Amino acid sequence: MQSRIFGRTGMQISVLGFGCGAVGGFMVRGDPADQERVVARAIAAGVNYFDTAVQYGNGESEKNLGRVLQRLKPANVVVGTKVRLPPGAFIADAVTMSLEGSLARLGLERVDIFHLHNPVTETGGGPALSVRQVLDEVVPAFERLRQQGKIRFLGMTAVGDTAALNQVIDARAFDSAQVVYNMLNPSAAGELPENYPAQDYGRLFDHTEAAGTGVVGIRVLAGGALSGSAERHPIAGLAPEPIGSAMSYDADVDRARRLMPLVKEGFATSLTEAATRFALSHPAMGTILVGMATPRQFEDALAAVQKGPLPRAALDRLSALRQSFSGEPR
Ligand SMILES: NC(=O)c1ccc[n+]([C@@H]2O[C@H](COP(=O)([O-])OP(=O)(O)OC[C@H]3O[C@@H](n4cnc5c(N)ncnc54)[C@H](OP(=O)(O)O)[C@@H]3O)[C@@H](O)[C@H]2O)c1
Repeated sequence: MQSRIFGRTGMQISVLGFGCGAVGGFMVRGDPADQERVVARAIAAGVNYFDTAVQYGNGESEKNLGRVLQRLKPANVVVGTKVRLPPGAFIADAVTMSLEGSLARLGLERVDIFHLHNPVTETGGGPALSVRQVLDEVVPAFERLRQQGKIRFLGMTAVGDTAALNQVIDARAFDSAQVVYNMLNPSAAGELPENYPAQDYGRLFDHTEAAGTGVVGIRVLAGGALSGSAERHPIAGLAPEPIGSAMSYDADVDRARRLMPLVKEGFATSLTEAATRFALSHPAMGTILVGMATPRQFEDALAAVQKGPLPRAALDRLSALRQSFSGEPR
């Protein structure tokens, strides 16, 4: 397994990370013996980043990951979890309480990366925090936890308004950012065609690179839509709300199917393989997370990553196919 240096943290992280989220649901609702077997398999294959959150199954993902890591006792894995602050929370207290709960469920004294899970907008409101709340209240609260030895690095979720995300990244307060980057929305890396139906993340990678922020790629399969099939595994539950791509999951599936020439022309053996390898193709990407419902889906992600990033010709073909989405409603 190839690894990359994760921004200014200096950590070497495997290009494939292990997503313990609720969308695929394997680490939330999967069979406990399967969970242990697949995590052991991942570690043996060189995966060293495990990504969870208290929101994933209301603590279930953290408990299951904690149980498995205590059984396996691997050396040198990097564990990241998250805090999502409810509207109106007293930020410093809520951050501390959430981390204490996460550490207890994980059975750890410290997590390597603690990510803010809320979206960030200029003025906040609803589930979002404002730039000022993030920089003036969340960051000092995280820094206190770092001084207490309970977290090693500060992370954020790069979901929200692009201008606000740029401001927070540019402030260089966060060591890690979870960035949406997939075949339907490559705008963290480059310009989108005009009237393209997705959020424009405004070359966020230029900002993360300048700030030395490590990047965790999320929604690499657009929540499953980039399989090109609307069918979901029973463990996976309902189709998720898209992040940054179309307004509906079905619209993402429809566009994903229009990328099938990548497979028919031999650039990849499946759309999910193409999507997984696409996400690795930019050097700003540190590690990618692929959500899964089954052990088979982990094997697919591993096999795709082992083939390496998509070659230039495939990336060019993909750009050409994507041009046809321009002007369509989001
Ligand atoms: N910070 C944040 O706010 C945030 C947000 C999103 C994700 N994340 C992190 O990123 C991780 C991954 O993201 P995600 O789960 O949202 O989405 P994702 O990786 O884009 O999509 C996961 C879905 O893709 C489908 N899939 C996976 N492998 C497949 C295969 N080989 N063939 C066909 N379909 C396949 C599965 O859906 P089916 O059941 O339909 O097959 C699975 O549920 C999460 O676990 C979490 O750790 C973080």
